[in-house]
Amino acid sequence: MAHTGDSVLILDFGSQYTQLIARRVRELGVYAEILPCNAKLEDIRAFHPKAIILSGSPSSVYAADAPRCAPEVFSMEKPVLGLCYGLQLIAHEFGGEVDKSARREYGRAELTIEDTKSKLFKDIPQRSTVWMSHGDSLKKIPPGFHITASSGNAPLAGIANKDESIVAIQFHPEVVHTANGTQILSNFLFEIAGIKANWSPGDFIEATVEEIRQRVGSETVICALSGGVDSAVAAVLVHRAIGKQLKCIHIDNGLMRRGESAEVVHTFGDHFGIDLDFRDASDLFLDRLAGVIDPEEKRKIIGKAFIDVLSEEAEKFRGAKFLVQGTIYPDVIESLSFKGPSATIKSHHNVGGLPEKMHLKLIEPLRELFKDEVRNVGRALGIPEHFIDRHPFPGPGLAIRVIGDITKHKLELLRSADAIFIEELRNWKLYPATWQAFAVVLPVQTVGVMGDERTYENVVALRAVTSVDGMTADWARLPHEFLAHVSNRIANEVRGLSRVVYDISSKPPATIEWE
Ligand code: XMP
Repeated sequence: MAHTGDSVLILDFGSQYTQLIARRVRELGVYAEILPCNAKLEDIRAFHPKAIILSGSPSSVYAADAPRCAPEVFSMEKPVLGLCYGLQLIAHEFGGEVDKSARREYGRAELTIEDTKSKLFKDIPQRSTVWMSHGDSLKKIPPGFHITASSGNAPLAGIANKDESIVAIQFHPEVVHTANGTQILSNFLFEIAGIKANWSPGDFIEATVEEIRQRVGSETVICALSGGVDSAVAAVLVHRAIGKQLKCIHIDNGLMRRGESAEVVHTFGDHFGIDLDFRDASDLFLDRLAGVIDPEEKRKIIGKAFIDVLSEEAEKFRGAKFLVQGTIYPDVIESLSFKGPSATIKSHHNVGGLPEKMHLKLIEPLRELFKDEVRNVGRALGIPEHFIDRHPFPGPGLAIRVIGDITKHKLELLRSADAIFIEELRNWKLYPATWQAFAVVLPVQTVGVMGDERTYENVVALRAVTSVDGMTADWARLPHEFLAHVSNRIANEVRGLSRVVYDISSKPPATIEWE
């Protein structure tokens, strides 16, 4: 781990908000990591937490399979904050009572602070709005504890032991709907646990660079640089640590957007001076994709072709001992999650059996970072802003945006329409307000008229969505004048496209991509 300062451990009991807790703590300048609640005691100790936060959970503490943590967590003499289920678990553990039949409480509630001397509620108004999400409620506080706060449906919405080394609240301070949530977390970290805030991109870079140097020594390291934010930041970071010992490989799979490969070569090869091996493999990919219509089959073919080409290129660096990957924290959490490992490491992180085949050890310098932290590290490393603020782009690239069989002609139509759409979103300052925006070429031809001639051409759909995490999304309400302008430009500038439609579906029931 690349962090030596004060850190906080979050034990995950399965709440949908656990990641948010970690993000909020880190936003306060304190390093935080998540472990499943049933983590071994020695792993918890090895982390040397300055404080421990217990997350919420959809379970009931009385359920036979209720998630628990090692009871020693409460005797480590580290301050503990219990949130929601965390409160009920603490109460249960210390001899309080939880009521299963209490009134459920979901959504906004008004909190009243009962103990105005509580350090947890320092600088919080006596009445404020909080976000609740619980079935069970606390009925009787454990001996040695006192009530610190109440709400309409939860008279015991906050409890603490005498010296406030164990504090707990029924609501969720990590969600934005809790008016003073950040202040409450800050009070726990700084007023109660006496933690020093020392987590910043600069510290992270320094510590990580040192760690990579130690680990790599004089060996060679390879990295597949796709041009996505994660792989770019990972590569520049490793380059800062070991310079020319890093060999990057950029593969043009023929499914990139306009000018993308050239930009990768220019930015990372020329500007950063990274040793960059460029391979134009577009013919290989497009040959293998010829006539394929099924999107899952397209994904499989692309994944396999990528491994084949990367293995070939990596042959040039036979002596290499390490492979850099842009894995980020949400991918890690997803695979460690308390709900059990899910086999969902994203396809663009999947380099198949390559590490085993070439006996490569992985370097994953961003394993501990959230996406916004990766972006901040990228900025601190001097990567240009238009690279950093980019929308997510799927691993299979434009292949899943040409519906039906893929041809060079359709890819060119798509690139042209997409470039206009994105350029105008930037011009109109609408780009940062959308989560993803792109064009899709449909396998439908419709009648048009140009000059005096009738035409019969493909339809292009524009899709722009707003989202927080890509799990749900809404179609972006782009101004009509903007859409009119983009449609006009596409029809005038792209020969072969005369009809433009705008996708007004949300996710669910639709998905963000069309395939
Ligand atoms: P959907 O279309 O499922 O997309 O709503 C959610 C997010 O995932 C991206 N996506 C992919 N990313 N390989 C990837 O690396 C894929 O096969 C893939 N399919 C979808 C999509 O762009 C969106 O950000």
